[in-house]
Amino acid sequence: MEDRDSVKARIEKLRAEINHHNYRYYVLDSPETSDAAYDELMQELRRLEEQYPEFLTPDSPTQRVGATPLGAFGIVEHPLPLLSLGNVFSRDELLAWYTRTLRLAGQNQLDFVGEHKIDGLAVALTYVNGQLTTGATRGDGFHGENITQNLRTIRSIPLSVSRDTPPRFEVRGEVFLPRAGFNKLNQERAAEGLPLFANPRNAAAGSVRQLDPKVTAKRPLDIYIYALGYAEGKATPPTHWEAMEYLQSLGFKINPNNRRLNSTGQVEDYYDTWVERRESLPYEADGIVVKVNSLDLQERLGNVGHEPRWAVAYKFPAVEGTTRLREIGISVGRTGTLNPYAILEPISVGGVTIRQAALHNEDDIRRKDIREGDTVIVRRAGQVIPEVVEPIKSQRTGNEKEFSLLDKIFDKEKQRPACPVCGGEVIKPEGEVMYYCSNAACPAQVQARLEHFTSRSVMDIRGVGESQSTTLLREGLVKDVADLYYLTKEQLVRLDRMGDKSAGNIIKAISSSKQRPLYRLIYALGIRHIGGETAQLLAEHFHSIDDLASASLEELMSVPSVGPKIAESIVAFFRQPENRDIIEKLRRAGVQLAGEAARPKTLPLSGQEFVITGRLEAFSREEAEAQVRALGAATKDNVTRKTSYVVVGADPGSKLVRAQELNIKQLTEEEFLRLLKQVSSK
Ligand code: IVH
Repeated sequence: MEDRDSVKARIEKLRAEINHHNYRYYVLDSPETSDAAYDELMQELRRLEEQYPEFLTPDSPTQRVGATPLGAFGIVEHPLPLLSLGNVFSRDELLAWYTRTLRLAGQNQLDFVGEHKIDGLAVALTYVNGQLTTGATRGDGFHGENITQNLRTIRSIPLSVSRDTPPRFEVRGEVFLPRAGFNKLNQERAAEGLPLFANPRNAAAGSVRQLDPKVTAKRPLDIYIYALGYAEGKATPPTHWEAMEYLQSLGFKINPNNRRLNSTGQVEDYYDTWVERRESLPYEADGIVVKVNSLDLQERLGNVGHEPRWAVAYKFPAVEGTTRLREIGISVGRTGTLNPYAILEPISVGGVTIRQAALHNEDDIRRKDIREGDTVIVRRAGQVIPEVVEPIKSQRTGNEKEFSLLDKIFDKEKQRPACPVCGGEVIKPEGEVMYYCSNAACPAQVQARLEHFTSRSVMDIRGVGESQSTTLLREGLVKDVADLYYLTKEQLVRLDRMGDKSAGNIIKAISSSKQRPLYRLIYALGIRHIGGETAQLLAEHFHSIDDLASASLEELMSVPSVGPKIAESIVAFFRQPENRDIIEKLRRAGVQLAGEAARPKTLPLSGQEFVITGRLEAFSREEAEAQVRALGAATKDNVTRKTSYVVVGADPGSKLVRAQELNIKQLTEEEFLRLLKQVSSK
């Protein structure tokens, strides 16, 4: 056995190194190491922690996603209420706020800090003795939801900070989904037939309120800290700006676009700069926030109701415009979805000409009562695809036409609704909002599948974009995605405008795509309702296409976030002979159909539930829970009939009474330690 002291030292060194790389990557956006080298460090740490669970601590970087799904969120009381902000919409309103603030402060000049008002959701993070103990939503300002387990999955939130901090402090910030992540998530949801998030704010809120932290962990959430809530037991800086610098030095992520401003002119310049450049930001901001810099003065100015007198939001003008909706068109997606979209009278919104806009699905169109011929509001809220927000009903002339998808695609000759591209039969599975073209060989579907398969975030086959997909299909060189792997350079060179070099590059790209990780391949197959996120969860569970293909509905539904709809879609996919053919063709071509070696599915305490009550001597509650979880068991806050063991420390609470009532096995700390030792040496 390796010497325990040196193992412990190695574990600590690995953690420090990984935390450093996390910080470089997620907080500073400036990585120092390759993904592969980082993965190696993580793997070594995981292996050591599995072998030596006694060294596992809750702030280990391996423990970001450790917890089991929660039944519901607990409520957290905010010691200091979380306020909202008053808004101003014009220069005049800003000036009025400014003069009033100077007057109330009794000064003729003030220092301010300008920040972006990011469109996400406010959270409060509490650190006790340097450890993140609680993360909560704003809620009603006085009580929020306890979403600690989910916030722990956000890599730019430190799980622990140096010990040299106030023994107890709270920071506040905005959790958000960067534009790129938001667009990708919605594209995936559209492909899965799931309702779309209206904006990044809703998407971020939906993501942190997932009961299963594994789902949250897959969403690329980020945070900017914008306030030190309170700090006990140690002096903190006297101004907001310095407080932010201090928090930054502790490893918190602070927006680099924050500025010190000391006149209305500077506030206006800051605003003007960002009105112009907001589209270039990686996140969505709906305005700037102007804050009085002196914390002492902030306190003196105080609040009116829920709003502080010392800060204000100066909102950006909306990127919206009105135009006429000429017609609703229908396009066919890769899983056969018939997608309605708006054909608009061209309009310029914030400098970009918009001709088409998303309309999601028929239910959505009906709910918003959007009709052909309507004057509509269109918004380009950072999304790649602009969307129709709502019709302006007061401008109706009576000639507008209500939309019915089935009428639109009704084929007079066939006397039935038909796919607008191939004339194939149209179906609407029960309980779904989308209509589908049922012909898997529909050219629009095949083309879209090929584009999806080869795209960057999927199999990443460079050189086969939209136009090459069209050519390959037209020339009959490929009929399905697996045919790509049988293309020869000679076949490609014969195509129009294809040089020797590009043909060679395409063949090379196709060949190296054979080694993509399993989740990418699962995503690439274009199974209805399977987006990238679900594909990852499936790959983690099944480890090979064959295991996935032979899984039962029950087994599929045991994967987090897989419900009956997704499970049935997977079973149906692999039941189709055409799809099985594709898998076999991929196999023969040497495409990797399995993931890395499976981790042991059952850990020594799998299936057991632990409740800990009272104070333990050897470790904190969190540490004890982390160890139990690392061994495969779940930890719960309440004793129920399902509880396997109640660990009883000093001064136990009502949980012990409940355990006695329900006759649940109780363990003293000593017995608990013995059990841990026993099972971890297995
Ligand atoms: S300061 C009293 N700073 O805006 C100060 N808030 O309506 C309150 N927000 O709930 C927060 N960016 O979610 C502050 N740089 C920023 C912000 C910001 C976004 C949000 C926050 C808050 C809402 C206020």
